[in-house]
Amino acid sequence: MIDKTRLKTTSSYYKLYLPFIALFYSLNLFAQDAKQAVIPILTKDNALVLKTDDKGRLLYSYFGKKLQQNDEYDVVGQQFFYNDGNEGIYNHIYTPAGSWNLLEPALEITHADGNLSTELLYDSHQTQKTDDNVSETSVVLKDPVYGTEVTVHYKTYANENTIEQWTEIKNNEDKLIHLDKYASANLYLSGDKFYLHHYHGGWAKEMRPEETLLTHGVKTLDSKLGTRANLLSPPSFVLSIGKPATEDEGDVLLGTLAWSGNFKFDFEIDSYNNLRLITGVNPFASRYPLASGESFKTPSFIYTFSRNGKGEASRNMHRWARNYRLLDGNGSRLTLLNNWEATYFDFNEDKLVELFADGKKLGVDLFLLDDGWFANKYPRNHDRAGLGDWQENKKKLPHGVGYLVKEATKAGIKFGIWVEPEMVNPKSELYEKHPDWVIKQPERPEHYMRNQLVLDLSNPEVQKFVFDILDKLFSENPELAFVKWDCNSVIYNEHSAYLDKTGQEQSQLYVDYVKGLYKVLANLRAKYPKLPMMLCSGGGGRVDYGALEYFTEFWLSDNTHPLERVFIQYEYSHFFPMISQCNHVTDWSDLPLKYRTDVAMMGKLGYDIVVSHLNEKDLEFSQQAVKNYNAIKDVVWHGDFYRLVNPWDNDISSVMVVDEAQTKAVMFNYLVSNRYFSGPVTVKPIKLKGLDPAKKYQLKEINVYPGTKSDIQSEATYTGDYLMSVGFNPAVTPRRTSVILEINAI
Ligand code: GLA
Repeated sequence: MIDKTRLKTTSSYYKLYLPFIALFYSLNLFAQDAKQAVIPILTKDNALVLKTDDKGRLLYSYFGKKLQQNDEYDVVGQQFFYNDGNEGIYNHIYTPAGSWNLLEPALEITHADGNLSTELLYDSHQTQKTDDNVSETSVVLKDPVYGTEVTVHYKTYANENTIEQWTEIKNNEDKLIHLDKYASANLYLSGDKFYLHHYHGGWAKEMRPEETLLTHGVKTLDSKLGTRANLLSPPSFVLSIGKPATEDEGDVLLGTLAWSGNFKFDFEIDSYNNLRLITGVNPFASRYPLASGESFKTPSFIYTFSRNGKGEASRNMHRWARNYRLLDGNGSRLTLLNNWEATYFDFNEDKLVELFADGKKLGVDLFLLDDGWFANKYPRNHDRAGLGDWQENKKKLPHGVGYLVKEATKAGIKFGIWVEPEMVNPKSELYEKHPDWVIKQPERPEHYMRNQLVLDLSNPEVQKFVFDILDKLFSENPELAFVKWDCNSVIYNEHSAYLDKTGQEQSQLYVDYVKGLYKVLANLRAKYPKLPMMLCSGGGGRVDYGALEYFTEFWLSDNTHPLERVFIQYEYSHFFPMISQCNHVTDWSDLPLKYRTDVAMMGKLGYDIVVSHLNEKDLEFSQQAVKNYNAIKDVVWHGDFYRLVNPWDNDISSVMVVDEAQTKAVMFNYLVSNRYFSGPVTVKPIKLKGLDPAKKYQLKEINVYPGTKSDIQSEATYTGDYLMSVGFNPAVTPRRTSVILEINAI
């Protein structure tokens, strides 16, 4: 337990005692009464073991396969001799800076007296069980000189082999201190070689993977973009230990930070060839003040460990997300028709009412009205004006949103709407009225991304403004069924008039922005708990489990070219379940409608096309495709996901989903190469996964284009054993560039 007396003493009189404490400390006299503990943190298959050294520092002594005998965790560390480094201790569970550690720290503090050193010794721990699957171990560490209290939380999800880790830092000094670095998690992985699979990208180029062998030194992945923080690099990675993992083999740690702002991951290989991993908020320009008695809670780092390759790691993460994080993760979703690419800003009431009828004709659940419906003084007829003025544009929508909702209902379709509430065009009434609500440098020229600036969500007035936009829409239109929440600009010239005015520090802005955003979202969710909302950020510029606690789904990329999309969807599938991934059929390419549709079905299906431009066969095909999708969506959304053929190294890509009972599955196959093929592309069968070997299955091709015939014999039956050992050939050819197979147990 927390020793309050000791804390009070240290915080009040520490200045007097400081020289003596330092002397005792250097003579190692604390070691005599150093508290000792062994703390195994267990999931279904894995163990993460923390153990104190003789000085009371808490170190990782093991991270690997769960042992059969619990008492052996006490001695598991004996086999590793990691404690003689000149640079300090490498495997501390939360490495402080300025004392014995000379490598990358997890925590850097400027204490009230200006001192830069921190030491953390084990104080206490406790484990609380939520239910049979979920437990939380909280470990309290304390600085013997300054009383700083650090609680490292490990929340385990046993069946998902997943750990959610975060840290709370408490200032027990009399005065304000500053956190210069405050990681979420500090891990230590033992191994000889580490291969990091990470991502770079840009607008319409999301999730481009790279895999690299980590060499000695520090490899950093980070973002400093503020909002839309993962436009250039997302806060997610897959790490293979020992050798590059495959889908089914190898030790894999798959990790992601639940934070919608700047992040920093440091991968440091030490002199034992082990990996020190430090993840959290990016300390760049983010020195955070902490008043006496206050605590700072970091975002969570979520990781899963698999000894059976990347596929299992992804399935662990998907299951964790569906059960514990993604809003309504086990629920259902709405198929939709969006008007963005069909009309852009050019629409009016009549045109929209026609589109409702088109959506109904297509068979989708919802019509989504995109950008361009608001602002009057500076109408939103392009992306250079009007953002921030959330009143219906009277010319385009004289009868308001309420009328559209009613008309949609009459047409038998639900209605949803686009908003981008965190942003403002300089050409807007909002900007004219509240220039102090805008993030910008008072003395420097403005700098824009997509002609807009970001509102200052550290300001409670701005938080209320954003909340009110949505609250007004929802309360005036209770039948409104869906929201697409966009965020199209990064933060340039970061500076807050509000922080200045209230005497706070500018270096709080990046963190307080995200906290402000979460506050708004939490308030909205308190009032509107389940309303489906799509997380969008000029495509996939903000996809993380911090935001997805409040959103039911996300927009992966503005790039809807189906070939590009196969790759983008494949990479997102490492971290996010299919039910969260919105994919739309669009006119971005001249590839066949069937191919575009088959790709969009691998996730949550939507359309962004002009239905009235479809010829008779295309319309017939699409109507049937929506029906087919309705028949398979349950397994697509809630099933286990398997990557079968990697598009980067092959002429095709193949993935499949299987329901929990192993009675229904869907296999998606796409040709991705443009090379000359004289015969079939899939000359060999593809081994299926996740089926029950003892069950018999029938495979039926769906989405067969009208007037063509499937090459698949749908009467034949095969055992799961056959399909997983021999495989099945989907018969992809240059003529059949995409093939979806519905697989049913008989
Ligand atoms: C972003 C989104 C698009 C669309 C436009 C509207 O780019 O990613 O889907 O909503 O904004 O301006």
